[in-house]
Amino acid sequence: MALDHESIGQVVARALDAFASASSTSELKDARLAHLGDRSALAAASKEIGSLPGPERKDAGQRLGAARAEVTAALAARQAEVEAAELERVLAEERIDVTLPVELVPQGAQHPITALMDQLSDVFVAMGWEIAEGPEVEGEWLNFDALNIGPDHPARGTSDTLFVEPIENHLLLRTHTSPVQIRSLLDRPLPVYVVCPGRTYRADEFDATHVPVFHQIEGLCVDKGISLAHLKGTLDHLARSMFGQDITTRMRPHYFPFTEPSAEVDLQCFVCHGASVGDPDNPCRTCRSQGWIEWGGCGVVNPRVLAACGIDTDVYSGFAFGMGIERTLMFRNNAADMRDMVEGDVRFSRSLKGVAR
Ligand code: PHE
Repeated sequence: MALDHESIGQVVARALDAFASASSTSELKDARLAHLGDRSALAAASKEIGSLPGPERKDAGQRLGAARAEVTAALAARQAEVEAAELERVLAEERIDVTLPVELVPQGAQHPITALMDQLSDVFVAMGWEIAEGPEVEGEWLNFDALNIGPDHPARGTSDTLFVEPIENHLLLRTHTSPVQIRSLLDRPLPVYVVCPGRTYRADEFDATHVPVFHQIEGLCVDKGISLAHLKGTLDHLARSMFGQDITTRMRPHYFPFTEPSAEVDLQCFVCHGASVGDPDNPCRTCRSQGWIEWGGCGVVNPRVLAACGIDTDVYSGFAFGMGIERTLMFRNNAADMRDMVEGDVRFSRSLKGVAR
Protein backbone atom coordinates (compact mmCIF):
# COMPACT_ATOMS: atom_id res chain seq x y z
CA MET A 1 0.00 0.00 0.00
CA ALA A 2 1.13 3.47 -0.75
CA LEU A 3 1.62 5.53 2.37
CA ASP A 4 0.84 8.82 0.72
CA HIS A 5 -1.77 11.13 2.06
CA GLU A 6 -4.39 10.16 -0.49
CA SER A 7 -4.12 6.43 -0.04
CA ILE A 8 -4.35 6.70 3.73
CA GLY A 9 -7.36 8.96 3.32
CA GLN A 10 -9.08 6.23 1.33
CA VAL A 11 -8.33 3.63 3.96
CA VAL A 12 -9.79 5.87 6.62
CA ALA A 13 -12.86 6.65 4.50
CA ARG A 14 -13.55 2.93 3.92
CA ALA A 15 -13.28 2.23 7.64
CA LEU A 16 -15.61 5.06 8.56
CA ASP A 17 -18.10 3.88 5.94
CA ALA A 18 -18.01 0.37 7.28
CA PHE A 19 -18.56 1.57 10.85
CA ALA A 20 -21.42 3.81 9.80
CA SER A 21 -23.24 1.02 8.00
CA ALA A 22 -22.79 -1.50 10.85
CA SER A 23 -26.13 -1.57 12.65
CA SER A 24 -25.48 -4.07 15.46
CA THR A 25 -22.68 -4.77 17.90
CA SER A 26 -21.83 -7.96 16.02
CA GLU A 27 -21.64 -6.21 12.63
CA LEU A 28 -19.53 -3.54 14.26
CA LYS A 29 -17.20 -6.18 15.61
CA ASP A 30 -16.69 -7.55 12.08
CA ALA A 31 -15.98 -4.06 10.79
CA ARG A 32 -13.47 -3.49 13.58
CA LEU A 33 -11.57 -6.67 12.73
CA ALA A 34 -11.57 -5.76 9.03
CA HIS A 35 -10.37 -2.17 9.46
CA LEU A 36 -8.37 -2.11 12.68
CA GLY A 37 -7.42 -5.78 13.07
CA ASP A 38 -4.09 -7.52 12.40
CA ARG A 39 -4.94 -8.05 8.74
CA SER A 40 -6.35 -4.60 8.07
CA ALA A 41 -4.83 -2.14 5.60
CA LEU A 42 -3.72 0.05 8.51
CA ALA A 43 -1.86 -2.85 10.13
CA ALA A 44 -0.17 -3.68 6.84
CA ALA A 45 0.83 -0.03 6.39
CA SER A 46 2.38 0.07 9.86
CA LYS A 47 4.61 -2.82 8.90
CA GLU A 48 5.66 -1.07 5.69
CA ILE A 49 6.82 2.05 7.51
CA GLY A 50 9.98 0.30 8.70
CA SER A 51 11.26 -0.07 5.17
CA LEU A 52 10.97 3.63 4.31
CA PRO A 53 13.97 5.93 4.31
CA GLY A 54 14.35 8.16 7.41
CA PRO A 55 12.58 11.47 6.58
CA GLU A 56 9.70 9.78 4.78
CA ARG A 57 9.32 7.35 7.62
CA LYS A 58 8.64 10.15 10.09
CA ASP A 59 6.01 11.74 7.84
CA ALA A 60 4.31 8.49 7.03
CA GLY A 61 4.37 7.54 10.71
CA GLN A 62 2.58 10.74 11.68
CA ARG A 63 -0.02 10.33 8.94
CA LEU A 64 -0.64 6.74 9.91
CA GLY A 65 -0.87 7.61 13.61
CA ALA A 66 -3.44 10.31 12.88
CA ALA A 67 -5.39 7.94 10.63
CA ARG A 68 -5.44 5.22 13.29
CA ALA A 69 -6.63 7.75 15.90
CA GLU A 70 -9.45 8.91 13.62
CA VAL A 71 -10.58 5.36 12.86
CA THR A 72 -10.41 4.36 16.53
CA ALA A 73 -12.43 7.40 17.61
CA ALA A 74 -15.04 6.74 14.90
CA LEU A 75 -15.34 3.14 16.08
CA ALA A 76 -15.86 4.20 19.71
CA ALA A 77 -18.50 6.73 18.71
CA ARG A 78 -20.39 4.23 16.56
CA GLN A 79 -20.08 1.58 19.29
CA ALA A 80 -21.82 3.91 21.72
CA GLU A 81 -24.60 4.65 19.23
CA VAL A 82 -25.22 1.01 18.37
CA GLU A 83 -25.25 -0.07 22.01
CA ALA A 84 -27.67 2.68 22.94
CA ALA A 85 -29.97 1.70 20.07
CA GLU A 86 -29.86 -1.94 21.10
CA LEU A 87 -30.67 -1.10 24.71
CA GLU A 88 -33.53 1.07 23.51
CA ARG A 89 -34.94 -1.79 21.46
CA VAL A 90 -34.67 -4.32 24.34
CA LEU A 91 -36.38 -1.92 26.71
CA ALA A 92 -39.20 -1.38 24.22
CA GLU A 93 -39.65 -5.01 23.23
CA GLU A 94 -39.38 -6.50 26.71
CA ARG A 95 -41.51 -3.94 28.40
CA ILE A 96 -44.05 -5.29 30.90
CA ASP A 97 -46.88 -3.47 32.56
CA VAL A 98 -46.48 -4.05 36.26
CA THR A 99 -49.71 -2.20 36.98
CA LEU A 100 -51.89 -4.81 35.24
CA PRO A 101 -54.34 -6.37 37.70
CA VAL A 102 -53.44 -9.92 38.85
CA GLU A 103 -55.93 -12.66 39.44
CA LEU A 104 -55.91 -13.33 43.18
CA VAL A 105 -56.61 -16.97 43.94
CA PRO A 106 -57.59 -17.19 47.59
CA GLN A 107 -55.42 -19.64 49.48
CA GLY A 108 -56.88 -22.02 52.02
CA ALA A 109 -55.26 -23.02 55.29
CA GLN A 110 -54.96 -26.26 57.17
CA HIS A 111 -57.61 -26.46 59.87
CA PRO A 112 -56.09 -26.07 63.33
CA ILE A 113 -57.90 -29.22 64.51
CA THR A 114 -56.15 -31.22 61.79
CA ALA A 115 -52.84 -29.53 62.51
CA LEU A 116 -53.13 -30.26 66.23
CA MET A 117 -54.11 -33.91 65.66
CA ASP A 118 -51.09 -34.31 63.39
CA GLN A 119 -48.82 -32.72 65.94
CA LEU A 120 -50.08 -34.93 68.78
CA SER A 121 -49.79 -38.01 66.57
CA ASP A 122 -46.24 -37.10 65.59
CA VAL A 123 -45.12 -37.29 69.21
CA PHE A 124 -46.14 -40.96 69.22
CA VAL A 125 -44.95 -41.80 65.72
CA ALA A 126 -41.54 -40.54 66.84
CA MET A 127 -41.64 -43.21 69.60
CA GLY A 128 -42.50 -45.94 67.11
CA TRP A 129 -46.24 -46.06 67.78
CA GLU A 130 -48.63 -46.65 64.90
CA ILE A 131 -51.64 -44.62 63.81
CA ALA A 132 -54.86 -46.62 63.95
CA GLU A 133 -58.14 -45.65 62.39
CA GLY A 134 -61.70 -46.85 62.62
CA PRO A 135 -65.07 -45.99 61.10
CA GLU A 136 -67.18 -43.15 62.45
CA VAL A 137 -70.33 -45.25 62.07
CA GLU A 138 -69.49 -47.92 64.61
CA GLY A 139 -71.00 -51.11 65.93
CA GLU A 140 -72.69 -50.74 69.30
CA TRP A 141 -70.73 -53.72 70.65
CA LEU A 142 -67.38 -52.11 69.78
CA ASN A 143 -68.36 -48.67 71.06
CA PHE A 144 -69.83 -49.98 74.35
CA ASP A 145 -70.01 -53.69 75.23
CA ALA A 146 -66.44 -54.61 74.40
CA LEU A 147 -65.31 -51.62 76.48
CA ASN A 148 -67.17 -53.01 79.49
CA ILE A 149 -69.91 -50.43 79.14
CA GLY A 150 -72.88 -52.65 79.94
CA PRO A 151 -76.40 -52.28 78.51
CA ASP A 152 -77.53 -50.35 81.59
CA HIS A 153 -74.68 -47.85 81.58
CA PRO A 154 -76.01 -44.29 81.39
CA ALA A 155 -73.58 -43.41 78.55
CA ARG A 156 -75.59 -45.70 76.29
CA GLY A 157 -78.74 -43.66 76.64
CA THR A 158 -80.29 -42.01 73.63
CA SER A 159 -79.74 -38.63 75.24
CA ASP A 160 -75.99 -38.82 74.55
CA THR A 161 -75.65 -41.30 71.77
CA LEU A 162 -76.67 -40.79 68.16
CA PHE A 163 -77.94 -44.13 66.90
CA VAL A 164 -78.23 -44.92 63.23
CA GLU A 165 -81.61 -46.17 62.02
CA PRO A 166 -82.83 -48.86 61.83
CA ILE A 167 -82.02 -49.33 65.49
CA GLU A 168 -81.96 -53.16 65.17
CA ASN A 169 -78.71 -52.87 63.22
CA HIS A 170 -76.97 -51.72 66.39
CA LEU A 171 -75.02 -49.02 64.58
CA LEU A 172 -74.22 -45.63 66.04
CA LEU A 173 -71.96 -42.63 65.50
CA ARG A 174 -69.01 -43.43 67.72
CA THR A 175 -69.16 -41.47 70.96
CA HIS A 176 -65.40 -41.74 71.56
CA THR A 177 -62.32 -43.09 69.83
CA SER A 178 -62.08 -45.98 72.30
CA PRO A 179 -63.68 -48.56 69.94
CA VAL A 180 -60.45 -48.26 67.95
CA GLN A 181 -58.75 -49.79 71.01
CA ILE A 182 -60.86 -52.89 70.45
CA ARG A 183 -60.34 -52.89 66.68
CA SER A 184 -56.59 -52.57 67.16
CA LEU A 185 -56.47 -55.43 69.66
CA LEU A 186 -58.57 -57.67 67.40
CA ASP A 187 -56.60 -56.78 64.24
CA ARG A 188 -53.00 -56.54 65.31
CA PRO A 189 -50.44 -58.92 66.74
CA LEU A 190 -49.24 -58.11 70.26
CA PRO A 191 -47.60 -55.96 71.47
CA VAL A 192 -49.82 -53.08 70.36
CA TYR A 193 -48.79 -49.42 70.49
CA VAL A 194 -51.32 -47.25 68.64
CA VAL A 195 -52.73 -43.75 68.64
CA CYS A 196 -56.08 -43.04 67.07
CA PRO A 197 -56.93 -39.46 66.20
CA GLY A 198 -60.45 -39.05 64.89
CA ARG A 199 -63.92 -37.56 64.80
CA THR A 200 -66.51 -38.41 67.43
CA TYR A 201 -70.20 -37.61 67.97
CA ARG A 202 -72.47 -36.92 70.90
CA ALA A 203 -75.98 -35.49 71.05
CA ASP A 204 -74.69 -32.33 72.73
CA GLU A 205 -75.67 -28.70 72.63
CA PHE A 206 -74.05 -26.46 70.05
CA ASP A 207 -72.60 -23.56 71.99
CA ALA A 208 -69.29 -21.97 72.90
CA THR A 209 -68.08 -25.00 74.84
CA HIS A 210 -70.01 -27.90 73.25
CA VAL A 211 -70.17 -29.20 69.71
CA PRO A 212 -71.98 -32.41 68.75
CA VAL A 213 -69.19 -33.35 66.34
CA PHE A 214 -65.75 -33.16 67.88
CA HIS A 215 -62.37 -34.88 67.85
CA GLN A 216 -60.37 -37.02 70.22
CA ILE A 217 -57.02 -38.68 70.22
CA GLU A 218 -56.78 -42.06 71.88
CA GLY A 219 -53.64 -43.90 72.87
CA LEU A 220 -53.37 -47.61 73.65
CA CYS A 221 -50.45 -49.77 74.59
CA VAL A 222 -50.71 -53.49 75.42
CA ASP A 223 -47.50 -55.36 76.15
CA LYS A 224 -45.93 -57.57 78.81
CA GLY A 225 -45.41 -55.91 82.17
CA ILE A 226 -47.12 -52.60 81.44
CA SER A 227 -48.11 -50.59 84.51
CA LEU A 228 -49.51 -47.23 85.57
CA ALA A 229 -45.92 -45.94 85.71
CA HIS A 230 -45.58 -46.36 81.93
CA LEU A 231 -48.81 -44.42 81.49
CA LYS A 232 -47.55 -41.58 83.65
CA GLY A 233 -44.24 -41.46 81.80
CA THR A 234 -45.99 -41.43 78.44
CA LEU A 235 -48.36 -38.61 79.44
CA ASP A 236 -45.47 -36.57 80.84
CA HIS A 237 -43.56 -37.04 77.61
CA LEU A 238 -46.60 -35.91 75.62
CA ALA A 239 -47.03 -32.86 77.86
CA ARG A 240 -43.37 -31.92 77.51
CA SER A 241 -43.38 -32.40 73.75
CA MET A 242 -46.46 -30.27 73.27
CA PHE A 243 -46.14 -27.63 75.97
CA GLY A 244 -42.49 -27.35 76.99
CA GLN A 245 -39.77 -29.34 78.70
CA ASP A 246 -40.71 -28.21 82.20
CA ILE A 247 -44.39 -29.22 81.97
CA THR A 248 -45.72 -32.25 83.82
CA THR A 249 -49.07 -33.98 84.37
CA ARG A 250 -51.00 -35.26 87.34
CA MET A 251 -53.68 -37.90 87.69
CA ARG A 252 -56.86 -37.63 89.71
CA PRO A 253 -58.77 -40.84 90.51
CA HIS A 254 -61.81 -41.26 88.29
CA TYR A 255 -63.97 -43.98 86.82
CA PHE A 256 -64.12 -45.40 83.32
CA PRO A 257 -65.60 -48.85 82.71
CA PHE A 258 -62.76 -49.79 80.35
CA THR A 259 -59.83 -48.87 82.59
CA GLU A 260 -59.05 -49.93 86.15
CA PRO A 261 -57.68 -48.00 87.90
CA SER A 262 -58.85 -44.94 86.01
CA ALA A 263 -57.86 -41.31 86.30
CA GLU A 264 -58.45 -37.94 84.85
CA VAL A 265 -55.25 -36.40 83.61
CA ASP A 266 -54.47 -32.75 84.26
CA LEU A 267 -51.81 -30.73 82.49
CA GLN A 268 -49.65 -28.40 84.52
CA CYS A 269 -50.47 -24.85 83.42
CA PHE A 270 -47.91 -24.00 80.75
CA VAL A 271 -48.59 -20.28 81.11
CA CYS A 272 -48.28 -19.60 84.86
CA HIS A 273 -46.77 -22.95 85.91
CA GLY A 274 -49.02 -22.75 88.95
CA ALA A 275 -47.76 -19.35 90.09
CA SER A 276 -51.26 -17.85 89.87
CA VAL A 277 -52.65 -20.19 92.55
CA GLY A 278 -53.56 -18.12 95.61
CA ASP A 279 -52.20 -14.94 94.04
CA PRO A 280 -55.25 -12.78 93.24
CA ASP A 281 -52.99 -10.02 91.89
CA ASN A 282 -51.74 -12.23 89.06
CA PRO A 283 -54.69 -14.24 87.76
CA CYS A 284 -54.08 -16.77 84.96
CA ARG A 285 -56.66 -16.98 82.19
CA THR A 286 -55.40 -20.29 80.85
CA CYS A 287 -55.87 -22.36 84.02
CA ARG A 288 -58.27 -19.93 85.73
CA SER A 289 -55.67 -19.69 88.47
CA GLN A 290 -55.99 -23.40 89.23
CA GLY A 291 -52.42 -24.30 88.23
CA TRP A 292 -53.73 -27.36 86.37
CA ILE A 293 -55.84 -27.82 83.25
CA GLU A 294 -58.19 -30.79 82.78
CA TRP A 295 -56.96 -32.60 79.73
CA GLY A 296 -58.45 -36.08 79.35
CA GLY A 297 -59.05 -39.55 80.74
CA CYS A 298 -56.70 -42.46 81.19
CA GLY A 299 -56.06 -45.66 83.06
CA VAL A 300 -54.78 -49.20 83.08
CA VAL A 301 -56.77 -51.23 80.58
CA ASN A 302 -59.45 -53.22 82.38
CA PRO A 303 -58.60 -56.94 82.07
CA ARG A 304 -62.22 -57.50 81.02
CA VAL A 305 -61.52 -55.45 77.88
CA LEU A 306 -58.41 -57.49 77.11
CA ALA A 307 -60.34 -60.71 77.72
CA ALA A 308 -63.10 -59.55 75.35
CA CYS A 309 -60.37 -59.37 72.69
CA GLY A 310 -59.06 -62.86 73.53
CA ILE A 311 -55.86 -61.63 75.20
CA ASP A 312 -54.25 -63.62 78.04
CA THR A 313 -54.49 -61.20 80.95
CA ASP A 314 -51.96 -63.17 82.99
CA VAL A 315 -49.29 -62.25 80.44
CA TYR A 316 -50.39 -58.93 78.99
CA SER A 317 -51.49 -55.65 80.45
CA GLY A 318 -51.85 -52.17 79.04
CA PHE A 319 -52.74 -48.56 79.45
CA ALA A 320 -54.98 -46.20 77.51
CA PHE A 321 -55.71 -42.52 77.45
CA GLY A 322 -57.87 -40.13 75.47
CA MET A 323 -58.21 -36.39 75.16
CA GLY A 324 -60.39 -33.91 73.31
CA ILE A 325 -58.75 -32.01 70.49
CA GLU A 326 -61.15 -29.03 70.58
CA ARG A 327 -60.56 -28.64 74.30
CA THR A 328 -56.82 -28.81 73.80
CA LEU A 329 -57.01 -26.19 71.07
CA MET A 330 -59.08 -23.96 73.36
CA PHE A 331 -56.61 -23.72 76.18
CA ARG A 332 -53.52 -24.03 74.03
CA ASN A 333 -54.41 -21.26 71.58
CA ASN A 334 -56.88 -19.19 73.61
CA ALA A 335 -59.67 -20.17 71.21
CA ALA A 336 -62.61 -19.12 73.34
CA ASP A 337 -65.51 -20.30 71.19
CA MET A 338 -65.76 -23.85 69.86
CA ARG A 339 -68.21 -22.71 67.20
CA ASP A 340 -65.32 -21.00 65.39
CA MET A 341 -63.84 -24.45 64.92
CA VAL A 342 -66.75 -25.77 62.88
CA GLU A 343 -67.75 -22.71 60.91
CA GLY A 344 -64.98 -23.17 58.36
CA ASP A 345 -64.01 -19.52 58.09
CA VAL A 346 -60.48 -19.60 56.74
CA ARG A 347 -59.61 -16.49 58.75
CA PHE A 348 -59.94 -18.55 61.93
CA SER A 349 -57.51 -21.14 60.59
CA ARG A 350 -55.12 -18.44 59.49
CA SER A 351 -55.27 -16.69 62.83
CA LEU A 352 -54.08 -19.85 64.58
CA LYS A 353 -51.48 -20.67 61.98
CA GLY A 354 -48.01 -20.62 63.42
CA VAL A 355 -49.34 -20.31 66.95
CA ALA A 356 -48.32 -23.93 67.28
CA ARG A 357 -45.55 -24.37 69.79
N1 PHE B 1 -63.01 -42.55 76.00
C1 PHE B 1 -62.95 -41.67 77.13
C2 PHE B 1 -63.87 -40.48 76.90
O1 PHE B 1 -64.32 -40.30 75.80
C3 PHE B 1 -61.55 -41.17 77.37
C4 PHE B 1 -60.63 -42.27 77.78
C5 PHE B 1 -59.88 -42.95 76.86
C6 PHE B 1 -60.51 -42.62 79.12
C7 PHE B 1 -59.02 -43.93 77.22
C8 PHE B 1 -59.64 -43.61 79.50
C9 PHE B 1 -58.89 -44.26 78.57
O2 PHE B 1 -64.16 -39.74 77.78
